[in-house]
Amino acid sequence: MYPSPTVSSRPLWISPSQNKWCDILMAKGAGLVNRHYHPHEVFAYTISGKWGYLEHDWTATAGDFVYETPGEGHTLVAYEHKDPMKVFFQVKGPLIWLKEDGEPDGYFDVHNYIALCRDHYEKVGLGRDYIDKLFRWSRLNIHAAVDHQRRAGGEAALVGRQIEHRAGNLIGRAMTAERDHPVEEGRTIHA
Ligand SMILES: [Fe+2]
Repeated sequence: MYPSPTVSSRPLWISPSQNKWCDILMAKGAGLVNRHYHPHEVFAYTISGKWGYLEHDWTATAGDFVYETPGEGHTLVAYEHKDPMKVFFQVKGPLIWLKEDGEPDGYFDVHNYIALCRDHYEKVGLGRDYIDKLFRWSRLNIHAAVDHQRRAGGEAALVGRQIEHRAGNLIGRAMTAERDHPVEEGRTIHA
């Protein structure tokens, strides 16, 4: 992820098998997320602060809903505001980073997001598995996800076995029940 250090993310819900996640993107002051596009749709709802895209004239403040059209490049800007920027995002699939000439420059998907979360939670002492409680699986996708992890090989094969084990516990549960913890520094990913 290539945001400025002022930008952070609090994970809420993660679906590894659908390559999809929900989070609250936050910035305590001015901040930036590098230019990118999404092959799939993205939805956002502004909780507080002020933000927008360099490529557009509009700015979003509390209560504003934003839809990101698939394939459209944008650079997210958090503006100075009396309240921190807090935006609920539903992201599907990867972010494709864009170079200045418009060519792709790598990607960031749910697996990168999970790795970032694991590193962060280990660093703050909550443990690498802390993020697992936010994983939600659908019955149809679980076997595909395990296969995918196995094909990736190496350390990912271990992850695949862990997923398989956890699937036994998680299948059949509803994909809802997100907790409403207050935002705490230790639960927030700083990229
Ligand atoms: Fe985006």
